[in-house]
Amino acid sequence: MATELNGVSEQKTEKKKTIFSGVQPSGNLTIGNYLGAIKNWTVLQKEYNCIYCVVDMHAITVRQVPADLRRRTYETLALYIAAGLDPKENILFVQSHVPAHAVLSWDLGCFTMFGELSRMTQFKDKSRKNADNINAGLFTYPVLMAADILLYQTDLVPVGIDQRQHLELARDIAIRFNNIYSPTFTVPEAYIPETGMKIMSLAEPTKKMSKSDSNANASVGLLDSRDQIIAKFKRAVTDSGSEVRYGEGKDGINNLINIYCCFTGKTRSETEREFEGKGYGEFKMAVGETVADGLSSLREEYGKLICDKQYLDQIMASGAEKASAIARKTISKVHRKIGYVSV
Ligand code: TYM
Repeated sequence: MATELNGVSEQKTEKKKTIFSGVQPSGNLTIGNYLGAIKNWTVLQKEYNCIYCVVDMHAITVRQVPADLRRRTYETLALYIAAGLDPKENILFVQSHVPAHAVLSWDLGCFTMFGELSRMTQFKDKSRKNADNINAGLFTYPVLMAADILLYQTDLVPVGIDQRQHLELARDIAIRFNNIYSPTFTVPEAYIPETGMKIMSLAEPTKKMSKSDSNANASVGLLDSRDQIIAKFKRAVTDSGSEVRYGEGKDGINNLINIYCCFTGKTRSETEREFEGKGYGEFKMAVGETVADGLSSLREEYGKLICDKQYLDQIMASGAEKASAIARKTISKVHRKIGYVSV
């Protein structure tokens, strides 16, 4: 499995490679989504053909309030742009606007084994959390994700580490299909950042920070106010020590060091040196202020974008049109190989 910067060096001499990734509009986006995914997307946009999707069809595997889903779909798109994704350079679109995702998902489902889906750790986790709604979509979710990726002949998928297992399945499905028929899909690789790949909860630092966490202090939202951000970091759970040092069993402080490194670009040892002799309290304050400062222009830009629904509608429509044109080619290739009749 590939990791950070995979393919970056060799791609300069070759034709531009394709990147695909997405976020579910299933909650308030967190700094985990930002550091694990969106921030890296903005770095990659110049060197790659990038396709970034708001994956609303994935979100309905868990019950959503319709008005909230609609609002969050706009919010997520606005956040992509506010974070620095240029709608002229990248294809930005909403998954349900391109029906080819559902079509390919069905086809690929017939090349995915029940056993493979049963082993997905996110399915097991989400089944535990939504015991009264273990629907078929929750089970086949990774097939739809494989369809998202393979539809665009994607080379690289920038995601956090929690998506690695899904990515591996997408690769297995692509390889299987290619072997049964003939080369059809590009086999994608993961792009997983070293420091931002798993941002932990501020309340329970052994758990991943999640946009669907019901504890408001556990996650830092991209749209939280400066005061909220600082207050959450002040309250962040750490161990009983006082030395700002990365180490075994210090999940809380390790997480804060990682977050600080992501926002400042400093290494762990530079951070440790900077805070030598200073206590956890001072460090937490510094992390809170750094994160609040680091997100201030994003918040400001978002504030303008979210008021301009017409502009966002226009981006959605043109993104869907461009994505559909690429998707159509893959669908017709796949259907020809499978043996569907075309008219
Ligand atoms: P989602 O919506 O849960 O998360 C979106 C992205 O954010 C990353 N992420 C994190 N990274 C670091 N630390 C965290 N605490 C953290 N929480 C979330 C995720 O790894 C992800 O990159 N199944 C996907 C969405 C999806 C997708 C795709 C992604 C659907 N189709 C195709 C890539 C390609 C998901 O639920 O992401």
